[in-house]
Amino acid sequence: MSEGAILDAISKHRSIRSYKPDPVSEDLIQEVLEAGIRASSSGNMQTYSIIVTRERALRERLSKPHFHQNMVLDAPVLITFCADFHRMRRWLELRNAPDGFDNFMSFMVATIDAVLVSQNVALAAESHGLGICYMGSTLASCDEIGDILELPGNVVPVAGFSLGWPDEAPELRDRLPLGGLLHYETYQSYSDERVLEIYKDRELDGWKRYMAHPELRRRVEEAGVENLAQLYTKVKYSRDSHQAFSRRVLKYLESQEFMNQEDDS
Ligand SMILES: Cc1cc2nc3c(=O)[nH]c(=O)nc-3n(C[C@H](O)[C@H](O)[C@H](O)COP(=O)(O)O)c2cc1C
Repeated sequence: MSEGAILDAISKHRSIRSYKPDPVSEDLIQEVLEAGIRASSSGNMQTYSIIVTRERALRERLSKPHFHQNMVLDAPVLITFCADFHRMRRWLELRNAPDGFDNFMSFMVATIDAVLVSQNVALAAESHGLGICYMGSTLASCDEIGDILELPGNVVPVAGFSLGWPDEAPELRDRLPLGGLLHYETYQSYSDERVLEIYKDRELDGWKRYMAHPELRRRVEEAGVENLAQLYTKVKYSRDSHQAFSRRVLKYLESQEFMNQEDDS
């Protein structure tokens, strides 16, 4: 792909939540995955696995842990990217090499690898006209999804998206302005005025967008929410829900052997 084509694919990205039922050919899936695995990888170890799920029956089972989001069944393909030290640790054992990869650092290294690959695959797919929508439920329900996908120890689902041919052409969504996200040389602290300026357009556009959604509007009115910031943390991402998901993920990391970091010193 030429440089211009890459920038074009990147700048046209929008999440697709409505799909045609048409399948995605095996050749095309292979092509975007081959492009995906060109991503940088810590130590070039490729400590991730990619699970492509097309079977309807499996996607039906995955629907609940994905909170019944329609994309799981409406798109023909679901791809789950897992942090995976299982394969690498097995190889170390077979080659009689010492192994120190059963800890949180290893989980983070493998997660970064998996997420870099996922975004490469997403862009390669979008450059072919396919659509994707990431689902945060992959991590939130990593334990249930792990059971359904029959993951061994040292494998944890961290990112996932639906994949298929778009049946909608949504507008590009806004981003916070680059100037508000960027720091040259060292971190520049934000004045209160600057923070409000950075979120100024978001407060208007985001509020309008959520109010156009009848179910969210009802919940916002019920919760007495007055602005977009409150909508985020009183309705969408409450402290209770984030704490519950944190406990769930940490427990699964423990059971998947990623939390052995006892201090031997
Ligand atoms: C880690 C992650 C998790 C996400 N989870 C969901 C999700 O569960 N459901 C959903 O509809 N969109 C999900 N999204 C998509 C975001 O809502 C979307 O990227 C954002 O609103 C910007 O819109 P755009 O992708 O169309 O530009 C997720 C995106 C990311 C990166």
